Amino acid sequence: MLAIESNALSKVYRSGLLRRQEVTALTEFSIQVETGQIFSLLGPNGAGKTTFIKMLLSLAAPTSGSASVLGRRLPDVRVREKVGYLPENHRYPGYLTGEQVLSYFGALGGSHAGPLPGRISTLMELVGLSQWRTMKVKKYSKGMMQRLGLAQALINDPEIIFLDEPTDGVDPVGRKEIREILRDLKRRGKTIFLNSHLLSEVELVSDRVAVLDKGHLLKVGTVDEMTATGQAYVIGITGTLPEPVTVAARAFVIRLSQQGENVTAECRTTAELNRVIDLLRKHGVEITSVTRQRSTLEDSFISLITGEARP
Ligand SMILES: Nc1ncnc2c1ncn2[C@@H]1O[C@H](COP(=O)(O)OP(=O)(O)OP(=O)(O)O)[C@@H](O)[C@H]1O
Ligand SMILES: [Mg+2]
Repeated sequence: MLAIESNALSKVYRSGLLRRQEVTALTEFSIQVETGQIFSLLGPNGAGKTTFIKMLLSLAAPTSGSASVLGRRLPDVRVREKVGYLPENHRYPGYLTGEQVLSYFGALGGSHAGPLPGRISTLMELVGLSQWRTMKVKKYSKGMMQRLGLAQALINDPEIIFLDEPTDGVDPVGRKEIREILRDLKRRGKTIFLNSHLLSEVELVSDRVAVLDKGHLLKVGTVDEMTATGQAYVIGITGTLPEPVTVAARAFVIRLSQQGENVTAECRTTAELNRVIDLLRKHGVEITSVTRQRSTLEDSFISLITGEARP
């Protein structure tokens, strides 16, 4: 079943005198997110990521297009009973303690007072805030606020969790802990929708990624699909690449070049790679390793955004 589906969803914000000022935040955005997956929306500042989440939560009205969450066509406020949301730049009243924040949001979300304290303890433990549960949130650090925000998003045991920049301001150890929590939630069948511009983060946890820029969907796929560079291989060799190999390989590979002890072969097929290896062996070259070259998601992201996408 699909957890989230959007069809040609667009949003134009209108403001100013006679609402004449227009900002197009999202243009005909269509995606599908399967239940139980971690899906990330990646894009630079102002790409439209937060706008998309707000429309899915019926906090902003689409200008055109349609969307559904958990099979319910939007707008439908009942969807909110089944979702958790960590907004970006969230603020809680500073005079409340961490557990009072959770208690407040739990009550707002309709949780019964009976099981709530137990659930709050479990969540504070989960996000590593147990020892600060009775501290007022005005004394919380940025990272502690993010952790509390994550606990808040989970307070009503949602089916889908929307997290807008969840690791913003969190230190590397905390980020790793948050990734573990997300993986654990996934194991328990939850769907997680993540907004981020932290590419390395997204790469580590996501099943699928969509890249958004200036409101347009540039690409969607698995992390592997996004990072595969096609058929570039790095062949480790000892010594230098013999000239006859370079000449012979030029006839069939896209590119063959040497940097130090590594030969990079850009091939169209694995058969071509094997021909390169045969050539090297024929000329007595010792091969120490063969690896498929991958770009990081960051490389793919930057080349997509700057329009330098490789074929
Ligand atoms: N309430 C609003 N009124 C007018 N314009 C808005 C409003 N909210 C967002 N925008 C504009 O819509 C565009 C998309 O904004 P959005 O907040 O969705 O981007 P984002 O991808 O979440 O960015 P960031 O990574 O900085 O959080 C931006 O140009 C922004 O200025
Ligand atoms: Mg945003």
